[in-house]
Amino acid sequence: AAGGIGRGMRPGDLMVIDDHLNFTGTSPLVGPNDEQFGPRFPDVSALYDPALIELTEHAALDLGIPLRRGVYAGVLGPTYETPAEVRMFRSLGADAVGMSTVPEALQAHHLGLRVLGISCITNLAAGLGEGKLNHAEVTEVGRRVRDRFAALLRAVLLDLNR
Ligand code: HPA
Repeated sequence: AAGGIGRGMRPGDLMVIDDHLNFTGTSPLVGPNDEQFGPRFPDVSALYDPALIELTEHAALDLGIPLRRGVYAGVLGPTYETPAEVRMFRSLGADAVGMSTVPEALQAHHLGLRVLGISCITNLAAGLGEGKLNHAEVTEVGRRVRDRFAALLRAVLLDLNR
């Protein structure tokens, strides 16, 4: 789940992640590195697998599921952002902001796994919509999008096994 920042983002949109900004202040790779799992200074210039992004965009098109594409800003939370932070993220090129995804994407990539990230835009980020953000709204939108997301994921997994 993420807050929408990019122009035209609406609650309920799915966004395939093509890159991220790590604003969590940390990394899951901090600490001694075990070379069995991956290198000390991994390249992350194509962390979100370009072929998986393309495959996902095709699957979405086939299914008639609108799919956005953009940059995910990952924050530590557990607060939502201030409106000033959201303006900063927008000026830095973020399309969405959320409190997850970045650590697991970094960890998986380090392990040599191919990473696909799809975020559900559950709300407009702070200051871009009306009223306050609340967790109930986030979970409710997530519930509404669930079937569409599952259909997309199923199609992607089937394509991968072809
Ligand atoms: N900000 C951060 N995390 C989120 C948001 C948000 O607006 N919505 C859902 N997760």
